[in-house]
Amino acid sequence: MSEQTIEPARGLVGSAPLPGDKSISHRLAILGALAEGTTELVNYSPGDDCQRTLACLQALGVHVEEVKSRERGKAVRIEGRGLGGLLAPATELDAGNSGSTLRMLAGVLAAYPFESVLTGDESLQRRPMRRVMEPLRQMGATLSGHQGDLPPLRIRGAALTPIDYTLPVASAQVKTAVLLAGLHAPGMTSVEEPVRTRDHTEIALEQFGATVSREGLRVAVTGPGRLRGRSFVIPNDLSAAAFFLAGGLLLPETNLVLPQVGLNPTRAALLDFLVGQGAQIKILDVQEANGELRGNLQVRGGVTLKGGSVAGTLTAKLIDELPVLAVLGTQSEEGFRLRDAAELRVKESDRLAALAENLRRLGARVQEYPDGIDVPGGQPLRGAVVDSFGDHRIAMALAVAGLVAEGTTTIQNTDCVEVSFPGFFEVLAGVRE
Ligand code: S3P
Repeated sequence: MSEQTIEPARGLVGSAPLPGDKSISHRLAILGALAEGTTELVNYSPGDDCQRTLACLQALGVHVEEVKSRERGKAVRIEGRGLGGLLAPATELDAGNSGSTLRMLAGVLAAYPFESVLTGDESLQRRPMRRVMEPLRQMGATLSGHQGDLPPLRIRGAALTPIDYTLPVASAQVKTAVLLAGLHAPGMTSVEEPVRTRDHTEIALEQFGATVSREGLRVAVTGPGRLRGRSFVIPNDLSAAAFFLAGGLLLPETNLVLPQVGLNPTRAALLDFLVGQGAQIKILDVQEANGELRGNLQVRGGVTLKGGSVAGTLTAKLIDELPVLAVLGTQSEEGFRLRDAAELRVKESDRLAALAENLRRLGARVQEYPDGIDVPGGQPLRGAVVDSFGDHRIAMALAVAGLVAEGTTTIQNTDCVEVSFPGFFEVLAGVRE
């Protein structure tokens, strides 16, 4: 099993190359497959999760190829089949570790008159799917899962009926599944969410020419939509940048640039949260392209962060950054208090348990709650053997801990970083001093 050792560092210096945004990549690939004509996606996420989405689309009859152009670098080219044009797959569709792939494709497959099976790795087979099965059943599809609501998910699609759906859990993946199903149903399908979650689907639908309306926490799509293929340049992933931001902030000699990072306001709560604690982060050269904001982040280290509390709606807005914020909390003045985060127990691992276990191994005091964690501040960490539990964001958060711990930190089970950030440890080695 793979492992990595991390030694303490003085700073992160230079510019860190980052992968394309994972959330945006999934959505644009799926919509490109449903569009008429060619879609070209520059800076498509190299992570296994997004490659799984492409492989599933290929199994549904979509032509996908990697192309290289001198001006624009590597891109993925997708020949869309048009709405309703996907073909019955000959095999099970394997989403690997990717909840986004499985849930979003469930929304699409609900509209196709054939049977398909969506499955995934051991971690994904433990993750709850009732949240997507419920609304898709209401729209007319037939879905069944292992022990009721676990993958493999068997889907028999149908001619769908639009619904007005109120999401019981804040989930951009579920919102997306319902909107993608709604795109195929005649009339208006709406989703009301408890908290505004990432709105990449809404933006991407508009970019492809679908009819989308938004009011407060409600978003609606009118089907059947007609999408037109087009080109996109995907920004870099803020949730991947988060590990470099956090590591950089903690080290006194940091002067780091994170280029072309996606700054969609529904994703950027991290920046406000850190700056509110005294972090020195400059946002430079902000531009909008394809409906998504992006800019360069410049981070300096050497400031002790105040610490902070995350609960209520803020928890959903920071959902993917919470592991690294817990690590950061150990080094802050007042620590990190997290609540309303039971959702973290059903991510790629039980992230609350994984954080509590690993921070304790690193010598920190931690109190775990059913829906959160308390991490007191001002706690020096001691290098130790820690375990990602197969979860990419836990592995990368532990690498940040290793940069500030005294002595060597050995992280076990690090292959998982491939799902969102292939080469993460090499990029870190390239900027650390
Ligand atoms: C994602 C939404 C979030 C997030 C995941 C990606 C997306 O999940 O944790 O990494 O791209 O829509 P939920 O929507 O299930 O909270």
